[in-house]
Amino acid sequence: MKATFLGHASWLLEEGEARLLIDPWLDGNPQAPVKAADLHPNYILVTHGHGDHDADAVAIARANDALIITTNELANKYAEEGARTHGMHIGGTFDFDFGPVRVTPAFHGSGVAGGHAAGFIVGLGGKKVYHAGDTSLFGDMELLGRLESIDLAFLPIGGNFTMPLGDAVLAVEMLRPKQVVPMHYNTFPVIQADPEEFRRRVEQRTDTRVSVLKPGESLEL
Ligand code: NI
Ligand code: MN
Repeated sequence: MKATFLGHASWLLEEGEARLLIDPWLDGNPQAPVKAADLHPNYILVTHGHGDHDADAVAIARANDALIITTNELANKYAEEGARTHGMHIGGTFDFDFGPVRVTPAFHGSGVAGGHAAGFIVGLGGKKVYHAGDTSLFGDMELLGRLESIDLAFLPIGGNFTMPLGDAVLAVEMLRPKQVVPMHYNTFPVIQADPEEFRRRVEQRTDTRVSVLKPGESLEL
């Protein structure tokens, strides 16, 4: 399983025929290493409907006939815009061709009336990957760590819109992933954070390995 960081909160997970794009914001993000048209996913997962997470989702879905997996209210919106969608909701799980998806809580805006922000725990290639979405720290991360044996976690560390770096260190303590990658920092002036400080503090307090990726870099599990 290969995970490629596409900047901010965008990720591409690949295993065999499965190409899962999470939270695509590419053409409007100067830090993104690729353009939306360069990507050919067969699934797109969207945690919530803020532009820095879904700006390119419908266009990429339509161009590739990719299935958008997201919360129900957003699935309805994207379907009206011409995408194929699969609506889920917090606490739900579903077995897709590539593996299971669990929708996790996230404390944040949804970007659509009546909706909820979410995160995902994705099973792919025998590994479990947690994308927290945009969220505060919450105590049930401990529960997520008990429900799932997380191999790789993507956590926001930039503060202002999400948990700040220090809270993200506590999140790692609760989730107990084998490996963590920080995201959602240094894209905007109000979300400055030092990923090397995150690495030091996590590695001081946990056995979790921290990988700091630049946009365009990958890791293999
Ligand atoms: Ni957001
Ligand atoms: Mn965001």
